[in-house]
Amino acid sequence: MKIILCGFGVVGQSLVKLFESRKDELYAKYGLKPRLIAVFDSKGSAVDQSGLKFNELVEIKKKYGTVKNYSKENNSMTGIEILKNIDADVLIETTASNYKDAEPGMTHITTAMKKGMHVISVNKGPLALAFPSLMELATYNQVMFKFSGTVGGGTPILDYAKNSLSGEKITSFAGILNGTTNYILSNMATGLSFEEALKDAKNKGYVEADESLDLDGLDAAAKLVILANWVMGMKVTMPDIKCTGIRKVTIEDIKKAEKNNSVLKLIASCDNELVVGPKEIPKEDPLGVNGTLNAIAFTSEHSGTQTIIGKGAGGTETASSILRDLLDIRQEIAKK
Ligand code: HSE
Repeated sequence: MKIILCGFGVVGQSLVKLFESRKDELYAKYGLKPRLIAVFDSKGSAVDQSGLKFNELVEIKKKYGTVKNYSKENNSMTGIEILKNIDADVLIETTASNYKDAEPGMTHITTAMKKGMHVISVNKGPLALAFPSLMELATYNQVMFKFSGTVGGGTPILDYAKNSLSGEKITSFAGILNGTTNYILSNMATGLSFEEALKDAKNKGYVEADESLDLDGLDAAAKLVILANWVMGMKVTMPDIKCTGIRKVTIEDIKKAEKNNSVLKLIASCDNELVVGPKEIPKEDPLGVNGTLNAIAFTSEHSGTQTIIGKGAGGTETASSILRDLLDIRQEIAKK
């Protein structure tokens, strides 16, 4: 399977390491032979139709901070040039999410779809701003569009709701979809101020480069958009979410929740409306997880409420979700 990888940050590198360490098993068990023919980061690219060497890519990136030094030739094509000029089966999009214009990921995805490539995205920006039209574009071009790592990282939240609960009617859901803010609120519950808890989260490397994505609820809102479209069949985008972050949460708010035998969490919910905001959750509710964990409770017509809990971020975890999507695509292609 010929693959183009957009972005070579923590997730991209984790994926390539996963390909290397599970090479034999992926072929023996699933017939999957991932051939990475092009990868690019913000400084340059590496291209080899016969397949880039996984270990070498990781070493070059570590040494030079870019994949550009992998080879002296074919190292200056931009992402768009690669996508326009090189044929592949699948594009894997891992560049950073942005919720202003969703670029460069949006152009990567639409260019690849128009060329007939299947697409896997862990970049939430394009989905948050244009989920309905991206699905239409995928259908029109008869390509598969997979994004299971966009919500819950390695925890298969989207697959659970869509596939494990298929036949059920999910009537509402609510959850903690952002690990960083959950970490901050959990620490505030132990007595830290917002500033102290934020500083600690930054030191641990949890906070996004643009802290607003976590603190103002944008990351959680983007995940809510993806869930609402994919699970509930709604046609919504970011402006449809009522979104409040955690910057204004005070120790008094946390103490008030404690008095009510509750905990204060940043909850993304889909009921009569789509809302992200701080909310008190009863202490005994399974949603009340701490640290960087994510949790989501789906309520359905006949099966009651079910809660999934798991890690919502991390390089290896997100890379494993990409592998899951890749295997799905491999299976679908094999059926044809
Ligand atoms: N900033 C996100 C979080 C990363 O804290 O959950 C995963 O999308």
